[in-house]
Amino acid sequence: MTEYRHITVAPIAGALGAEIGGVNIAEDLDDAVIGEIRQALLEHLVIFFRDQDLPVDRHKAFSRRFGDLFIHPNYQLGQEDKETVYLLRKPGDTMATGEWWHADTTMMETRPMGAILYALETPDYGGDTMFSNQYMAYETLSDGFKATLEGLKAVHSDIRVAGPQSDVNKKRSSKVRDDSNWQPTVHAHPVVAVHPETGRKCLYVNSVYTVGLEGMTEAESAPILEYLYEHQSRPEFTCRFRWRKGSVAFWDNRCTVHYAIHDNFVSVRHMQRTQIAG
Ligand code: SIN
Repeated sequence: MTEYRHITVAPIAGALGAEIGGVNIAEDLDDAVIGEIRQALLEHLVIFFRDQDLPVDRHKAFSRRFGDLFIHPNYQLGQEDKETVYLLRKPGDTMATGEWWHADTTMMETRPMGAILYALETPDYGGDTMFSNQYMAYETLSDGFKATLEGLKAVHSDIRVAGPQSDVNKKRSSKVRDDSNWQPTVHAHPVVAVHPETGRKCLYVNSVYTVGLEGMTEAESAPILEYLYEHQSRPEFTCRFRWRKGSVAFWDNRCTVHYAIHDNFVSVRHMQRTQIAG
């Protein structure tokens, strides 16, 4: 465990997740503070900040300390600021963005390193986000199954969550591209990924973007993937974050999956998100 000098770090669960204190992330922070925040992210996989005031320019400035900003290909609906995505839920929405276990945007050739989500408006109850540790998901597989997965690649596509064939825009207030020029983005990634900073192996499939295993039929892939989806979200690998206005979650998108729980149908939930390129 690292000893932190500039921030406080309080784990919120056994598997992953820590609340960071003693820092106002809207300020121009010293490299030493940013270094500790990055270390806490690598150690705890998802970190949380409370009671922050993060106008969009400060949100982007903080995010840039960790890398270039990622431009989401499916939220480009003509808005001027291409680097920020707003996730809005309104009463009447029958679906939420990120409602199933997933890592973000894994259909890209290079997946984003992370995301920073800031709560503008939150319901009085519900709307929590769960996260799951994918190092643990990999490490708890049997040696036999690990050997089977080694060398396998999964195909990832955004076909379920954007484009004219997807029905998500009918169900939720946050809109994605569904024009007839839209084309799916499809790339294959190893099922067992190696984290570029920690060198640790983790499971890298998810039920939103993964559509099959390379070189296998759908019928052959499905039982393996179903098993992995079930396994990767076991309760003991997870933490659950209760949002308040001004809360921030910063997750490492390379070794976690997350799930936005849609359980409040009467209130507004409004979030501001940046993603950091891989
Ligand atoms: C997401 O999947 O990026 C959204 C998470 C959330 O709104 O809680």
